Amino acid sequence: MPTDKKTIKEYNKNFKEWLNKKGLSHSHLEKPAMYSKLGNIKGKKILSLGCGAGEECAYIKSLGAKEVAGIDISKKLIAEAKKNFLNIEFYVMDMEKLKFAKSSFDLVYSSLVLHYVKDWTKVLIEIRKVLKKNGIFLFSTHNPVYWGALKEENKKEKLLVLVYNKNKQTGNIRIYGDYLQTRKINDLWFNNFKVTYWHKPFSLIIKDILKSGFKIIDCIEPGPLNSSKKIDYWFWKSFNKLPLFVIFKLQK
Ligand SMILES: C[S@@+](CC[C@H](N)C(=O)[O-])C[C@H]1O[C@@H](n2cnc3c(N)ncnc32)[C@H](O)[C@@H]1O
Repeated sequence: MPTDKKTIKEYNKNFKEWLNKKGLSHSHLEKPAMYSKLGNIKGKKILSLGCGAGEECAYIKSLGAKEVAGIDISKKLIAEAKKNFLNIEFYVMDMEKLKFAKSSFDLVYSSLVLHYVKDWTKVLIEIRKVLKKNGIFLFSTHNPVYWGALKEENKKEKLLVLVYNKNKQTGNIRIYGDYLQTRKINDLWFNNFKVTYWHKPFSLIIKDILKSGFKIIDCIEPGPLNSSKKIDYWFWKSFNKLPLFVIFKLQK
């Protein structure tokens, strides 16, 4: 199942607001963890998948990468990237159909994008094709433990639970959350921004990786930077305990 068409339209419609609202989970958790896993990229050729408006590409270029290219399925985000970063090549492209020559890149980077497609094998095979021998694929995605839980939100509270609750007298069982089933999640962000992405358990993520022929060389479930404690104590406290994202480093 490719990226949902309505979700692409929503990104095109809401891109300006989305760029302004990324928040601490990006700046004080996911991005620093991803950047810490880049390794030495001086002189390397790098491709960023789902690059959004290009900020990550610009940062990677500033670390000394020789060439950086970024692709995204959203026309509006790529137009924004082209406007802001003139020394980087950007393309509107679907990560399931990469139009680059075989063995072009030393490293492919992808932050919070893979969960927009259901089956990852197609993308992973495309990425392997464009990577050089021993090339690296570094990516982050939703942590299935967090997204396997039931998320309920109303005006008064937000609840995240993965619970088995049995009433011993009546025998009634209530189950909250669904970790094991691969399923579509329809989410609602600010300003009625409707996005659809996929949840699947760790075992199926690992199965897709192994099927594509990649070797797993690192995996982390990052926590927040300590500097976030002063900005938002509850963000820092919550995500020291709850796994929001997972990062994998793979080798061809
Ligand atoms: C959560 S955003 C992440 C953007 C950026 N990497 C960041 O972390 O700021 C997900 C991005 O993936 C893009 N995307 C979703 N499906 C895609 C696909 N099949 N091919 C390329 N880009 C895709 C979206 O347009 C969006 O820009």
